[in-house]
Amino acid sequence: MNQFAIRREKLIAHMQALGGGVAIIPTAPEAMRNADADYPYRHDSYFYYLSGFTEPEAVLVLVAGHAASQSILFCREKNLEREIWDGYRHGPEAARGKFGFDAAYPIDALDGEIPRLLANAPAVFYALGRDARLDRQVRKWLGEVRMQGRAGIAAPAQAYDVRMVLDEMRLFKDAEEIAVMRRAAQISSAAHARAMRTARPGQREYQLEAELLHEFRRNGSQFPAYTSIVATGPNACVLHYRAGDAVLQDGDLVLIDAGCELDGYASDITRTFPANGVFSGPQRALYEIVLAAQEAAIAATGPDRRFTDGHDAAVRVLAQGMLDTGLLDTNKVGGVDDVIAKGDYRQFYMHRTGHWLGMDVHDVGEYRDRDAPGPDKPWRTLRPGMVLTVEPGIYVRPAEGVPEAYWNIGIRIEDDALVTADGCELITADAPKSVAEIEAIMRQ
Ligand code: GLY
Ligand code: MN
Ligand code: MN
Repeated sequence: MNQFAIRREKLIAHMQALGGGVAIIPTAPEAMRNADADYPYRHDSYFYYLSGFTEPEAVLVLVAGHAASQSILFCREKNLEREIWDGYRHGPEAARGKFGFDAAYPIDALDGEIPRLLANAPAVFYALGRDARLDRQVRKWLGEVRMQGRAGIAAPAQAYDVRMVLDEMRLFKDAEEIAVMRRAAQISSAAHARAMRTARPGQREYQLEAELLHEFRRNGSQFPAYTSIVATGPNACVLHYRAGDAVLQDGDLVLIDAGCELDGYASDITRTFPANGVFSGPQRALYEIVLAAQEAAIAATGPDRRFTDGHDAAVRVLAQGMLDTGLLDTNKVGGVDDVIAKGDYRQFYMHRTGHWLGMDVHDVGEYRDRDAPGPDKPWRTLRPGMVLTVEPGIYVRPAEGVPEAYWNIGIRIEDDALVTADGCELITADAPKSVAEIEAIMRQ
């Protein structure tokens, strides 16, 4: 059985435990960019997780009965005329065989088949309220089943959000997913190394972005996992900056946050390096603090640790570093515990230290233990197979009382960590990171 079929079986078992029913999981719609030009097509992550099928206009339906179950694909039919223009389509018959579904039908049969499948099913499972089109379709299909009430046919009495089960499954990566994520991480690491090797004062941000994209694509990545950030000088202090056309100045730091998507899985790496290849004193001072914060966060990332332990460890190192360098004036803000308790560090560190990573760069999965009693849910405990980023930073905007030597320095260091049985594995470790490694690769 292939991995996708195993996941379908798992979901079906969860559905059976809830009394059974029918799950409806469509892929993503195609999106037009302008006139006749589409955005590059990207399948829906849930749909792909359960099917491995990447064509648009497809819906997966799982029927979880008491004894028997069925997985059914609805997809585009073969169409020679359309295939001449747009490329190969599997068609239902070939897709059924290749991807291991029990049955497959043309997508046009969906409206006819779903009410039939929902008849007398105890529950419908879908992504409730996620997409207005699907909500409307489900309402219509349920309405059609209800119309057969006098014929003794019952409509599902329950609706479950299928994401409740799928998000939890996706949070724990299986061996196939880990293998793809490792490879995605290696490609992205090579892209960051390439950017460091080629960066020179006088270049523009978009030229470095081109180096990243080149390395992604030549290694088989289909897309960047998110819009690359290439931010030189003060732009690094804009958290959601994109790669623009600013010129790398001699003496600037360059912050690159970029990762490829490979076979549906994201990687997410940030590195910060000097445009001219050598850190200045103030740049190096802050860089070493962020690096130490990241090391502390990584040491706090492992089984039985809470999701937020890494963040708390990073914040402590960053806050102490802000006091040591005079970014924060201890006469005004007190000691490190005061800085943490009152949140003064947020002037220079305003985001969290990580997030789940998987098919989506900000991947699905609960961050809190929602089964815990009481309203104040504790942070999730880390377990082997979870993947998360570790990404502390310091961003110094010019402000009164802040030493001028640090103005406009923005630094983030981000790696992807797989939680293992005894700690975590940094799958992005190939991207140069220490001051010595960065300065050495930039000399090449
Ligand atoms: N690249 C997105 C993030 O770091 O969260
Ligand atoms: Mn990230
Ligand atoms: Mn990132």
